Amino acid sequence: MRHVTSSSQFTKEHLKDLFALATELKQNPSRYGQSLSGKVVATLFYEPSTRTRLSFESAIQRLGASLISTENAKEVSSAVKGESLSDTIRIVEGYAEAIVMRHHENDAAYEASKIAAVPIINAGGGSGEHPTQSLLDCFTIYEQRFSLDKLSIAVIGDLRYGRTVHSLVKMLSLFDDLTVYGVSLPGLELSEEYIHYIEEHGGRFISCRSLQGVPSDVDVLYQTRTQRERMSVAEGEVQEIIIDQHVLDRFEKHTIVLHPLPRNQEIAPEVDHDPRALYFEQAKNGMWVRMALLYMLLKENH
Ligand code: CP
Repeated sequence: MRHVTSSSQFTKEHLKDLFALATELKQNPSRYGQSLSGKVVATLFYEPSTRTRLSFESAIQRLGASLISTENAKEVSSAVKGESLSDTIRIVEGYAEAIVMRHHENDAAYEASKIAAVPIINAGGGSGEHPTQSLLDCFTIYEQRFSLDKLSIAVIGDLRYGRTVHSLVKMLSLFDDLTVYGVSLPGLELSEEYIHYIEEHGGRFISCRSLQGVPSDVDVLYQTRTQRERMSVAEGEVQEIIIDQHVLDRFEKHTIVLHPLPRNQEIAPEVDHDPRALYFEQAKNGMWVRMALLYMLLKENH
């Protein structure tokens, strides 16, 4: 694999290798401190980010590579002067061995990958996909269950604009006997494109009106934030689905709670103390998984 633009590019074999390396990096990070010495990686972010940008930047530096970064490219790069994305990519590829990019347009990373001479990694594209988030989501589930087969997962909240859910259901569809419960806010249901994808790959999609419709033995509650920055004010006036301790108490001991973060009110802070709440561990896993990905793209292919 040269570029990472969609979670559908990954095979089971890719994930097996990547999770093994992420586990090794997590256990023995110092062994890899000079792995990418002499290489430069660029982060080009046209949308806000805390976790994705900083975990990539930490990963880059922990592997011994150097970093060049534009954290608010929409306002401080030459995009302000009218430079096209393709021209920007042609310039940045001359300065770096890989480009990690987040953009407000769904297909920007894919379009960049068609002209780039260096690997392009999609760090979130509009309301489309966020493939490296699905890597860390699946890794976090894998750490708990040691398998992604026979998984049941409730995806909750804004399933229409939430790009993390889109990439996650595609990646999980690689595995056997998948059941996805969709608990969406009104008007923010998962689009047919993703439901078809799950079903075409042998999984089941079950739409639920509320969390009450999700069986108490579900493996994962995957809560998401309402992406108000992508909607009209009227569209954003929805009653949030909230996971608080009372809601979580109905679910079994093995049910884990994930969230790509950032959160607003959709997970009550009291839930943070429940051992099933793994979203902070999930965010930290982002760094190990992104180290593994960069290592595979930049070390193993050269
Ligand atoms: N999960 C995620 O993409 O978070 P950031 O927007 O902070 O990068």
